[in-house]
Order: sequence, then C-alpha cells, then structure tokens
Amino acid sequence: MNTTTTGHRALEEQIGAFFSAQVEAIRWPYPRFAEWREHGAIRWDGGPAVVATRYSQVKALMAGDLPVSNDGHATGSLADGTVSRLPARQHRIFHEIMEFESNFMSRHDGESHRRLRRIASRAFTARRIGLLRESIQAHVDELCDEMAGDPAPDLKRQLADKLPVRVIVDLLGVPQSDRDMIWGWAEAIAAHFTISEESLDAAEAAISAFRGYLAEMVERLRRTGQGPDLARTLLGRRDEEKMTETELQAMYLLILFGGSETTTNLLGNGFRALQDHRDQWDLLAEDPSRVRGAVDELLRYDSPLQFLPRVAHADFDLDGVPVRAGETILAVIGSANRDPDVFPDPERLDVLRPNRNEHVALAYGAHYCLGAALARLEGEIVVDTLVRRFPRIRLLDPDPPYAGSAMLRKITSLPVELDRTAV
Ligand code: HEM
Repeated sequence: MNTTTTGHRALEEQIGAFFSAQVEAIRWPYPRFAEWREHGAIRWDGGPAVVATRYSQVKALMAGDLPVSNDGHATGSLADGTVSRLPARQHRIFHEIMEFESNFMSRHDGESHRRLRRIASRAFTARRIGLLRESIQAHVDELCDEMAGDPAPDLKRQLADKLPVRVIVDLLGVPQSDRDMIWGWAEAIAAHFTISEESLDAAEAAISAFRGYLAEMVERLRRTGQGPDLARTLLGRRDEEKMTETELQAMYLLILFGGSETTTNLLGNGFRALQDHRDQWDLLAEDPSRVRGAVDELLRYDSPLQFLPRVAHADFDLDGVPVRAGETILAVIGSANRDPDVFPDPERLDVLRPNRNEHVALAYGAHYCLGAALARLEGEIVVDTLVRRFPRIRLLDPDPPYAGSAMLRKITSLPVELDRTAV
C-alpha cells in the first residue's frame, strides 16, 4: 500500500466504518471503494484483515490461484478479533454457530467441497430450475396484483421481500403456509453476518428452530417415505453418494439463506438502479427481450453480496502487501465489480454493456454460486413483468434507507407510484 500516515489513518477509519456497517458508510459505499482501489490491497489493523479491492485481486482469491481457504467466517484474524470483542458468554454461541455452519459446502475446500457440491448439483440441474419458471411467474403475477390493489405500494416489502422466500419454499419442498416463519429465520440468520450480541442470540435461536423443523421433516420422510424431492435427492438412494442428516440440514439452511436474502437484494437494488437510470429502464420497456442480459448488469452495478472472507493458509504477497498464514482477506466484490480496468465508466448502469457478465457478484471458480441460474431467472421474470405491466412506475424515495449490514446490501423500503393506466 502506498499511503502517507494520515492517508492510512483516514483509510483505517473508512474501512472500519464500512465493515462495522455504520449507516453513512453503507448507504452508498462506491465513492469510497474507488479511493480504496487506488491503494490496491490494504492492511486494516482494526479487523485485523487485508482488504482486497481490485477485480484482479478478488478474482484471484476466488479462482484458487492463492493459498486461501473458504473457512474465513470461523477462522482467521478477523474471526479471532471479532470473538475477542464479544462478551465471554457469547464465545460459546459464536463457536456453536460456526461449528454447525462448517457443514456449509461454501465453507469447505478441496475434495470435501467437491463431494458436497457433486451431491448438491443433483438438485440444481438446468431442467429442475427451468421447471420453476411457471411457478415463479405465478408468484410474481400474484404479488404484482397485490401491489396494484394497494393505495401505497412498496416494491421492496411487497415483491422483493416476498418472492425469493416463496421460490425457496417451493424448492425446499416445505409447505407455503410455513413461509412467514421461514422468512423470519432467514432474516435472523442473515443478521448475524454483522456480528453483535443481539444478532448472535437471534441467529442461534433461528438456527436451532430451523434444525428442529428439518429433523421432523426427515423423520417423517424415513417413517412414511413421503417428503420433499430435494431432501430425497440430497439424502440419496442406496449405493449413491449421499449427505449425512447434519449436512442436509446445513444445505437446507445454506439454500434458505443463500437463496432468499441475496435474491431479495438483487430485486431491490436492481429496481433502484433502473429507477436512478431511467433511460436504462426505458430501454428495457421498449424491448423486454433485453431484460435477460440486463440482470447481469444489475448484479454488477449494485451487488447483493458486497464481500466474502477468505483465510490464508500460507504466506503470500497480494500486490505488494504481505499476507501471513492465518490472516483474513476480505474480497470486496462490490469494489471489484466497479473496477475501471475491467468495466469502463463503471459508475454508469449500462444494461447493454458488452462484458456485463464478467462480474463476480455470483463468485467465480470452484464456489461459483450454485443457485446462479435460479437467481437470474427470478431477476429476469420480475424485471420483465414490471416493464410490461408498469412501464411508467416511479420510485417515490430517491434516497431509500439501508438495513444495517455491510455484507448484504439491503434496502428496507421502496415506495412506488404505479402506472395505473397500464394495470
Ligand atoms: C442474486 C442472488 C445470489 C447471489 C448474489 C449469490 C452469491 C453467491 C456467492 C458470492 C457465492 C460464493 C460464496 C463463497 O465462495 O463463499 C455463492 C455460493 C452459493 N450460492 Fe449463491 N447467490 C445468489 C443466489 C443463490 C440462490 C438462489 C441459491 C439457491 C437456491 C444459492 C445457493 C448457493 C450455494 C449452495 C452456494 C455454495 C456454492 C459452493 O460453495 O460451491 N445462491 N452465492
């Protein structure tokens, strides 16, 4: 890093404010990211961690080109620093949550990751995801009808918050009548990615309730042979590679959290981006066949997941910053996706951008998002339906509020005026 002492202190403060999710720092972090990229990789003493801000760095971390592990939530300098700042009674809770989450395939490396991914991939074939198209469209139509009948519609609360959990509930194969309870768990689990005393207590309660719910489901499946297709696929048939029951619970939780909170934010952030760039919305309304590719530009422009932790298992050098074994590296996806070396004029939303699908919002390499096709499909159906049904929809709040998370870029409300003549 190439900074003066004052420069370093200012960067330390900015980085600390962002990763501790201070309201002003997470509202619109992109100008700050541009400053950070000037420095490349930055040592953040407050974490402590090394912050990777450029596209080439973030991609190399994901590509397996560097000696890093995916277990950066539970281990490494940042996790140790976070635990040391928690009161003693919460250390046990932190470690219990991390121990269970260590069953997430996204936290595994090498062969144990490949094994879990092979099994899970059976549930995410293009055919299976394609089969969801009709039910997703039906959910979107119903939610749009509800918005149209509301005197003060809110697109975040009435559509973006509601659709992904409905789709995940269909995918998990559990009753839609349980979805409010399931969304409550997903929100509590998502909140613990900004670790605090309250968020850990709530996440522990939600994880334990969800595991109890799944244990009953598996027990019923074993007793009666009746149960969700997904669970059957993951538990496997005789002589087939299969998951243990704990791995199945972790997989369900990963799909629930990974597939609902993230997609909700793609829909909310994407809609805001298109409203802030009305010319781009109009391009899609003029010709909805453009929507499909546009979803990737929405993912690039305002990425739902802003960073991922990795932990070094050997010493290496990240563009001049020495990284030592055991140190956390924070790969800032939101910054990589606005790197002008890869995306010219990166602060501009351009739904026709030629290389829009080079973004790393859905990761890259071995851990590339398993639900990518589903996320894109939901994005496509929502934007397509909105531009057709409400071409003149208007966002009423140009500066919407964000929930307190740095990792998940999460708008809380999007009040809109619908184009009633087109309903
Ligand atoms: C816009 C929505 C989404 C975004 C931005 C997103 C982003 C990501 C990212 C960045 C990763 C890499 C995690 C890591 O390496 O630590 C990932 C992995 C994963 N995602 Fe998604 N995701 C989305 C939607 C979904 C959906 C809809 C599902 C499932 C229904 C899903 C399931 C998964 C799973 C299972 C993994 C682990 C893959 C592995 O480790 O091999 N995601 N996702």
